[in-house]
Amino acid sequence: MKAVVLGSSGTMGALVCNQLGERGVEVVEANRRTGVDAETGAGLAAAVDGADVVVDCLNLNTQSANKAKAFFGTAARNTAAAAKNAGARVVCLSICNAADPAVNRRMGYYQGKAAQEQVYRDALGDRLTIVRTTQWFELATTMLDRMSIGPLAVVPHMVTAPLAASDGAVVLADAATGENYRAKTVVEVRGPEQLDLVDVAKALRAAQGRRGPVVPISFGGSALRDGGLIPVHADVVTAMTLTQWVAAQPVR
Ligand SMILES: NC(=O)c1ccc[n+]([C@@H]2O[C@H](COP(=O)([O-])OP(=O)(O)OC[C@H]3O[C@@H](n4cnc5c(N)ncnc54)[C@H](OP(=O)(O)O)[C@@H]3O)[C@@H](O)[C@H]2O)c1
Repeated sequence: MKAVVLGSSGTMGALVCNQLGERGVEVVEANRRTGVDAETGAGLAAAVDGADVVVDCLNLNTQSANKAKAFFGTAARNTAAAAKNAGARVVCLSICNAADPAVNRRMGYYQGKAAQEQVYRDALGDRLTIVRTTQWFELATTMLDRMSIGPLAVVPHMVTAPLAASDGAVVLADAATGENYRAKTVVEVRGPEQLDLVDVAKALRAAQGRRGPVVPISFGGSALRDGGLIPVHADVVTAMTLTQWVAAQPVR
């Protein structure tokens, strides 16, 4: 079996490449540094040629709705066309409830993810599996890295059911190899506990012995603070808890 992982150098893409490699799948690592640009389409057809499945783990860091919709929509259109041409299925990584207008109203990035899902659905029908996960514990690391000023860290209130990205990668690899979820268009994945991302960040900082306050901010509307990110009926509840994940993190 041959799988193309788009976004192979990213947080989730790299984990999915490892998961698939461990299962004996031939993996094509695709990102701009390997000569594949999903937005312009450069290198895409050649990368996907002969593949059974394409796993889309692409990302753009933006809060602009226009930029997010342009990037995710265009990349999905190009990827769907290349996959169709090669006779490959697509597994698209998305975010639980991001396509819900009540959740994404003030979240330009989520509007981009909604556009991505829609483009794939329209183009691929039953040759598509969308794996939606809740936020990863790793998002707290990203927020702390991006939004720290000296000892002070600013983290948005996001009430979610976070999971370890490594647990999410197992589900994506299951969907890609067809070991599970073949008959489902959407697979929803959540972590074992309901938590605020602020508390994830605090636990991580405490474990790393870092001092200074974590200041919560309100961001993206009330749905993000009120549990709107948590799927009502998850297909998969992952195992790793916050305590276990924190214990496994490298000391900085
Ligand atoms: N963080 C969360 O909690 C969470 C939860 C659920 C779902 N997700 C979704 O997971 C996905 C992956 O996120 P991530 O944090 O793993 O991503 P990431 O670490 O930001 O990595 C993004 C990847 O995309 C590649 N890329 C970007 N533009 C590209 C282009 N034009 N052509 C080809 N490759 C391109 C990057 O490589 P180059 O820059 O080298 O091209 C990189 O490999 C996102 O769509 C996100 O919405 C995230």
